[in-house]
Amino acid sequence: MTVRSTARTAPTASTPDLSSQDPGWWRQAVIYQVYPRSFADADGDGLGDLRGITQRLTHLAALGVDALWLSPFYPSELADGGYDVDDYRDVDPRLGTLDDFDAMAAEAHRLGLKVIVDLVPNHTSHRHAWFREALAAGPGSAARDRYVFRDGRGEHGELPPTDWQSVFGGSAWQRVPDGQWYLHLFAPQQPDLNWENEQVRADFRTTLRFWCDRGVDGFRVDVAHALVKDLGEPLRDLGAPELSGEAALAEFAPGTHPFYDRDDVHEVYRDWRKIFDTYSPPRTAVAEAWVPGPRRVLYARPDELGQAFNFEYLQGGWDAAKLRGIITGSLADAHAAGASATWVLSNHDVVRHASRLVLPPGTDPDAWLLSGGRAPAVDAAAGLRRARAATLLMLALPGSAYVYQGEELGLPEVADLPTEVLQDPIWEQTGHVRKGRDGCRVPLPWTTDGPSYGFGTGGAWLPQPPGFGGYSVQAQDGVAGSTLELYRTALRLRRKLLDGESLTWSDDVPAGVLRFDRSDTWRCVTNLSGTTVDLPAGEVLLSSAPLDGGRLGPDTTVWLGL
Ligand code: NOJ
Repeated sequence: MTVRSTARTAPTASTPDLSSQDPGWWRQAVIYQVYPRSFADADGDGLGDLRGITQRLTHLAALGVDALWLSPFYPSELADGGYDVDDYRDVDPRLGTLDDFDAMAAEAHRLGLKVIVDLVPNHTSHRHAWFREALAAGPGSAARDRYVFRDGRGEHGELPPTDWQSVFGGSAWQRVPDGQWYLHLFAPQQPDLNWENEQVRADFRTTLRFWCDRGVDGFRVDVAHALVKDLGEPLRDLGAPELSGEAALAEFAPGTHPFYDRDDVHEVYRDWRKIFDTYSPPRTAVAEAWVPGPRRVLYARPDELGQAFNFEYLQGGWDAAKLRGIITGSLADAHAAGASATWVLSNHDVVRHASRLVLPPGTDPDAWLLSGGRAPAVDAAAGLRRARAATLLMLALPGSAYVYQGEELGLPEVADLPTEVLQDPIWEQTGHVRKGRDGCRVPLPWTTDGPSYGFGTGGAWLPQPPGFGGYSVQAQDGVAGSTLELYRTALRLRRKLLDGESLTWSDDVPAGVLRFDRSDTWRCVTNLSGTTVDLPAGEVLLSSAPLDGGRLGPDTTVWLGL
């Protein structure tokens, strides 16, 4: 890693003020995703908690991020890692209390960090008071109307109402003892809400205000594209199981899939924006919507959520031409919608990018995980080198970047978790065909040794592999060239260099190289080819790997000052 020690450019008038009341603070922010149960465990029960997060907030401040986003910490049976919520306005007692949340948010704000919470409006847990009420109240009741209950087909109603499939595998319908069926696009423990029901809409307004009033700065909206469904009778069959997946959206005229990305869903977000704008600064939001680019940015319009995750970038692999196309398209889409672009390489749902980026193109990640990460074997050092280059590229792009806990340590996917410890419902619901997402959710290593590598004083709810301590914060803190120090330096420099929200590509580059300038002060060059190339003009500010005799080796990104 090469670092130029002094800062070079002062922020300009167009650089957003990330620390304060600036209503645009999020447009180029770096947001760190905390998966609470795997971050830090203060009470030693093996499960991360809010007090653990509070104690470790200095790590985020030292890293230099602008905000943290917490995945769900609400009361939950953990049928889907907390995305099955019992009560939207409380804290899981195993993770703490509302007072602990307030203390965490106050400390974050004291350190200059914004706080974003996860909102799960598509479905509740089956343990939610409303769902229990719906089961007790019976068919045709007002309580059932908050969910999607239907009679079955077949002579005795023994067949599900439609052929819709769950994202996690199998039918999206579950039968209840009185014979009716309810819709669950995810696990059976996650019944879908009926967003045509005014009580549902009103209750979420209350939830939004509840968290805004507690000082939360924004929301990440889970499955934002699925809330509004075509529930007119008769419900439509799709005709083939694969048409239930988001990947099939291209087969449908825009807005006509029965449950994804319907035009009317935008009314919900326009309504929420009115609430966000009653606060100062206005609350921000980001849509989790696995929808192709031009439709996805509709969720990010200024009168809706403001941002939407860019999963095309995450799925772009390590191919210069493909990534350039995705970056150009994403910036154009975001600009057209009046939004800022977003970039993400890892999160709690995908194989960590330090492993994913070196899987040969076309590798099915599920098959790879099923092989315990052995077929094909992944070269961890090559993966880390590529991940570091990918990260510096991402952090040079205009817009905001979402960073997933542990990527600043260069953590690889834990692909060989024994099947008996798996918690992700995908494992059971697919009949053991897909292992699921536990391999990116293994609790963080903070220290080189000791119980659960400093995660807590007890164990860890998912086993950490031997050698995890080598990735720990303790092992990397202050170590020149470590991935942690690379992130810290990159974030510090980025904050100083940010200027405007555009980039200018250079076409005069060797094959497999991406090069762009941010204004006339900052240049980013990434070598995705297999050969060493010459460096263009500019003063080296930072590089993801040592330069090769002053030249740029494979899988390396360099930032140059102009
Ligand atoms: C998306 C979340 O990121 C994922 O973890 C969850 O399983 C589904 N939504 C369902 O809530």
